[in-house]
Amino acid sequence: MEALAKAHTNIALIKYWGKRDETLFLPMNSSLSITLDAFYTTTSVEFCSCLKSDMFVLNGNLTNEEETKKISNFLDKVRALAGVNLHAMVSSVNNVPTSAGFASSASGFAALALAATKAIGLDIDHSIVSRIARQGSGSACRSVYGGYVEWEKGVAADGSDSYASPIMDGEAWDLSILSVMVDSRNKKVLSREGMKRTVDTSPFYSGWLDTVEEDLEIAKGAIINRDFGLLGKVVEANALKMHATTLGADPPFTYFQGATLDVMEAVKQMRAEGVPVYFTIDAGPNVKVLCQPENEAYVQKVLAAIPTVQSIYLCHPGPGAKVLSRSSLSGTSKKMLNQFHHHSCTN
Ligand code: ADP
Ligand code: DP6
Repeated sequence: MEALAKAHTNIALIKYWGKRDETLFLPMNSSLSITLDAFYTTTSVEFCSCLKSDMFVLNGNLTNEEETKKISNFLDKVRALAGVNLHAMVSSVNNVPTSAGFASSASGFAALALAATKAIGLDIDHSIVSRIARQGSGSACRSVYGGYVEWEKGVAADGSDSYASPIMDGEAWDLSILSVMVDSRNKKVLSREGMKRTVDTSPFYSGWLDTVEEDLEIAKGAIINRDFGLLGKVVEANALKMHATTLGADPPFTYFQGATLDVMEAVKQMRAEGVPVYFTIDAGPNVKVLCQPENEAYVQKVLAAIPTVQSIYLCHPGPGAKVLSRSSLSGTSKKMLNQFHHHSCTN
């Protein structure tokens, strides 16, 4: 009972910020993202009666108890759905910096949801995979699909109507997303903790909810009409509104660092010179810069010249999650995943 799957990360254009149910990962608001081509996770899952407990190998290293527990809790949901009670060996390789604000948790849980449901024998469509991925990390539900994706918040208390669906293929409108790394260290306030503190204590949180659904409608319309200026404007404003809520939290916090402001400033400067370019920022100091492909070389050159910028990864819209065969693996993923390919037993 084994399967292998690959899923790409996504960057939120309209942010998911706040949960109405923490156990089921139900969001306060709907959100919108682009799945990215350059960053992805490949995960293999093998359920076997010979395993005494779940094991999780990440990037070639067996993880600690806390990380393994997160995977076990997630697998429990898959086991309950399938009515199967077997432990699993999970091995995963991130082709994205882990825990550095580049959404490894999104590609990680989307790949795990697809590989685990396939390995356990569930024959389900992507919308159910999305619902399951959501319960590992909310933003992971969007990584099940490629291109432009909306996560409809839903209203049902059991979360049955809270999952992602594609709104437009990536090939239908190519955009350039430059992921600008200014700090690769693990974040101080995890997104999960940051959004909870904000919902619980920030007087600005209700202001966030007042306009986010309207922002989403504007962004969706801009995507359908390929209106980059309108999309960029609403995306940047939405990110700033999300970050504004953190300053009102108790204790207050911000994800911005000096280098974050340097990149924001450079983007505004390029815009003042007539280049259509916009930024967005998730729960960390790194900045994602959006522009059209014809301007990406210039934008990359300007950003690379900022002394506080460490590296820049150029991304475009990427594909949805897929089941893979072991023979299709290559390079580092193949080496690492095969290293922990259990199956010496005959069960
Ligand atoms: P990021 O910005 O990379 O998403 P987070 O701190 O939000 O950073 O999430 C990192 C967490 O996501 C890890 O501690 C781990 O629990 C989970 N994660 C990362 N990669 C994987 C993976 N390949 N499979 C399953 N879970 C993963
Ligand atoms: C700011 O999906 O990482 O990146 O559901 O608690 O795992 P959990 O949170 P997570 O939060 C993402 C927050 C965000 C915005 C977004 O991706 O929509």
